[in-house]
Amino acid sequence: MKDSIRHLIQQALTRLTAEGVLPEGLTPAIQVENTKDKSHGDFASNIALMLAKPAGLKPRELAEKLIAALPADPAVSKVEIAGPGFLNFFQNRDALAQRLEAALADPHLAVRKAGAAQRVVVDLSSPNLAKEMHVGHLRSTIIGDAVARALEFLGDTVIRQNHVGDWGTQFGMLLAYLQDQPVECETDLGDLEQFYRAAKKRFDESAGFADRARGLVVKLQAGDPECLRLWQRFNEISLAHCQKVYDRLGVKLGPADVRGESAYNADLAQIVADLEARGLLSESDGAQCVFMDEYQNAEGKPLPVIVQKADGGYLYATTDLAAMRYRSQTLKADRVLYFVDQRQALHFQMAFEVARRAGFVHEGMDLEHMGFGTMNGADGRPFKTRDGGTVKLIDLLDEAELRAYALVKGKNPELDEAELRRIARAVGIGAVKYADLSKHRTSDYSFNFELMLSFEGNTAPYLLYAYTRVASIFRKLGKEIAEIGGQIDLQAEQEQALAAKLAQFAEVVNAVAAKGTPHVLCSYLYELAGLFSSFYEHCPILAAEDEAVQHSRLRLAALTGRTLKQGLELLGLDTLERM
Ligand code: ARG
Repeated sequence: MKDSIRHLIQQALTRLTAEGVLPEGLTPAIQVENTKDKSHGDFASNIALMLAKPAGLKPRELAEKLIAALPADPAVSKVEIAGPGFLNFFQNRDALAQRLEAALADPHLAVRKAGAAQRVVVDLSSPNLAKEMHVGHLRSTIIGDAVARALEFLGDTVIRQNHVGDWGTQFGMLLAYLQDQPVECETDLGDLEQFYRAAKKRFDESAGFADRARGLVVKLQAGDPECLRLWQRFNEISLAHCQKVYDRLGVKLGPADVRGESAYNADLAQIVADLEARGLLSESDGAQCVFMDEYQNAEGKPLPVIVQKADGGYLYATTDLAAMRYRSQTLKADRVLYFVDQRQALHFQMAFEVARRAGFVHEGMDLEHMGFGTMNGADGRPFKTRDGGTVKLIDLLDEAELRAYALVKGKNPELDEAELRRIARAVGIGAVKYADLSKHRTSDYSFNFELMLSFEGNTAPYLLYAYTRVASIFRKLGKEIAEIGGQIDLQAEQEQALAAKLAQFAEVVNAVAAKGTPHVLCSYLYELAGLFSSFYEHCPILAAEDEAVQHSRLRLAALTGRTLKQGLELLGLDTLERM
């Protein structure tokens, strides 16, 4: 709808330009917004305010001329001037009802991508395998998964890349420790975190051990079969830990999506050689670096992208350059989205720029760092266990389910055990995911079990419950929407407000995909649930005055239910029919 209003305004501008009211050559970005207060129409544009000056007119005068020049459109019932010169568009109720009917008849809810389908690489999760996955990786995994789902729903081809840290000097220390363990490594690696800490301790305390660890790195890099075997075994176990977390979270990530840093080892020498051939390399303290004029530190000293250390070793950035080239040349991506901590923003800005200058990525490929803030504890400080250790993801999820179980049992003591567990899983895991997704990703956020498990406010329990209310209407009725005839007729104010919100779903999903911002979908679903509540209160459904009204309201309720379910699914949340 916004697009078609933009199009109407564009036509009016063209007409006014031809008539000489507007000067030639204006190409304004036409802005159309949803209004908050529906008595001011459904959409508003500030175009007359923007163009008043070049037109040499008062904004309200130009607004009048624009309205006169707007082509008629059956979807728009009237256009008014408001305040200093805003244009307010009222949508036609019948046209709106028809759009909702089209959505209801479509398994895809009439959601289409604005623009052509693309191949999109989503770089997400990407933990370091030397250690156990911790809360820091939660955000990348959850936010990346939600955006990947939105892209897929819009018809893009999504290629998930779990760029795990499976290479580097810390593996020497782990292999040395592994060699020393007489016990089966499986049992011993049950707790990776502890294993890592023990190896690190030995490394720091024993010079002999440290020497052996360094030697093992060299052997590993040289492809020594025994070292490679141990290294592979270690990574398998670590990846299995990650997979458990993904499955628990209901995230669409599997072994086939893993392409770790080590996958690029064979390309790194060539990356450095190509940079050299392009004249981009310079040596600094024996290291091979790329300097770019626009990147300097606070003192105005140039900042390097180091691609090879003095000892010949390659770095994180070198691997990222190789990965970019692979994603461009082999995966043929149109877009690559990196869901990585905001603190790596500069790394990505610089690496993207080097890749472009070196011609590692094709011209049209978009590289976008989708950064996110830190996850803090309820006290606003970085999330830690009581004794100051890192919180393991799996423990966090266990606690979420436990708390949800107690909560649900308190509300419905009569439910049987299996049902309770199922609900607790959806609510507990859903709450953790939703709490993260509902905040703007760039801000830091406080992890707080009480808030995320509340049945009030913008939370998973609230939305899951809203969905069950719709489901219960149809359960009581004993019929599905497909068996019910009639059509949507928007009379009551609450029906119109709900309808206008339902009609925005496609636009919201497109925004999530374009900007990588799932919180936009969360706010939308929260508002939708709120509007459904007022509709439900004011407009009797099963007790409606006549059949036509009942059918119309049932259709609105059905579309609300499907929109909530689909929206939650895009966020990676399982819905429940009752709770
Ligand atoms: N393993 C890295 C870390 O935990 C994140 C990798 C992100 N992806 C990338 N292509 N650099 O910090």
